[in-house]
Amino acid sequence: MEHLLIKGKKALNGEVMISGAKNAVVAIIPAAIMANGVCIIDNLPSIEDVRCLQDTLIKLGAVCELIGEGTLMVDSSNLTNFNATFDSVRRIRASYYLMGALLGRFKEAKVALPGGCNFGTRPIDLHLKAFRALGAEIEEDYENGIISLKAERLIGTDIFLDTVSVGATINAMLAATLAEGVTTIENAAKEPHIVDTANFLNMMGAKIKGAGTDVIRITGVEKLHGAEYMIIPDQIEAGTYMIAAAVCGGNVCVKNIIPKHMDSLSAKLREMGCVIEEGDDYINVISTGKLRATRVKTMAYPGFPTDLQPQMVAGLAKAEGISLLTETVWENRFQYIDQLKKFGCEISVDGRVATIHGVNQLFGADVMATDLRAGAAMVIAGLASNGITKIGNVRFIDRGYEKIEYKLKALGADICRVKE
Ligand code: EPZ
Repeated sequence: MEHLLIKGKKALNGEVMISGAKNAVVAIIPAAIMANGVCIIDNLPSIEDVRCLQDTLIKLGAVCELIGEGTLMVDSSNLTNFNATFDSVRRIRASYYLMGALLGRFKEAKVALPGGCNFGTRPIDLHLKAFRALGAEIEEDYENGIISLKAERLIGTDIFLDTVSVGATINAMLAATLAEGVTTIENAAKEPHIVDTANFLNMMGAKIKGAGTDVIRITGVEKLHGAEYMIIPDQIEAGTYMIAAAVCGGNVCVKNIIPKHMDSLSAKLREMGCVIEEGDDYINVISTGKLRATRVKTMAYPGFPTDLQPQMVAGLAKAEGISLLTETVWENRFQYIDQLKKFGCEISVDGRVATIHGVNQLFGADVMATDLRAGAAMVIAGLASNGITKIGNVRFIDRGYEKIEYKLKALGADICRVKE
């Protein structure tokens, strides 16, 4: 059992290097099994979700190994297995990309239902609707938690997504890449990881246009070849360090990022009283630690990301005045608030709106990470608190943050990992 121990109230100063994007790499690794050849994936973050996918690909029969720090080689040339029903598939959410990838390559797939963070129902109906529109027949066995997909042929078509969905957009793009003819995805999600996945597929020989807009057009190809690709920096990891710097005070340079991806957060932090300076691939956050309250609404990209919502709530807990945070993406993503209250945060939740009364002082607490981003919020609260914080369930945080305690320590935080 591991914990993070934090002695709070230290200003943060210095540089932090951001790793490759979790939500891009978890789509790109499954996409690599669509190639008849070797793929090299660079800027790979060292996180649990990546190790889980690596394990899954090996079990499927691909060669999948680290060939250097942050470089993964995937060779699926001899892959014949489309049956992905092992435990590692059930552990993470992004396993659903195996459906699109295997269906595209083999026109058949058997995939265990994905796991991942729990914030209310997380349906995959739009993914399945897109596969059906492309010609797949689908059996949904919820008793055993297995989805089976089969198509004589996949034929390009027009797909309109009822809700803007990252996962359904990427899954439809994966299957349509190896379909016959042209597919258009309307009301597509526009997140940076969608563009990154499309760029990777195009490097492998796909013909995808419009990723990053709400209409994506895919001209199917017969085969994909291997490619070498560098994952984009993680927007959410970068945002987590930006919020930590804003709350703790200091001067932090968040490096190796795409500042454009941070626009919604940079605007909010400026509103709250921080100085934000942007360069080509970095952002400086300069803060006195005294923040003003604000209103935030989570939205699909380029809106404020839901994956920074818990961290922002922790940040607003000490901002002067009353803040309102409205969660529009997930029906139940405030389950962690009870843990934050242990720090002395004054937060009430009514449906999808959290009202945060800023307090002068937070106090170290003994808490459990309830999911990945909630865990990051508790780290931020701990850094901003008087006294000692102990965070359990660190495995949730390790799913998406590479070496979090080392990166924070280098910025001057008093944080360590302890094993019990
Ligand atoms: C991705 O999840 C991310 N995960 C999530 O990040 C992120 O919170 C989410 O996108 C929104 O940005 C990965 O990329 C692996 P969606 P995804 O489909 O694809 C509804 C993190 O912390 N919906 O965009 O599962 C759904 O209920 C994780 O890194 C349907 O109704 O999210 C939600 O309200 C957590 N039917 C909305 O769409 C469907 O078939 C957006 O979900 C699919 C989704």
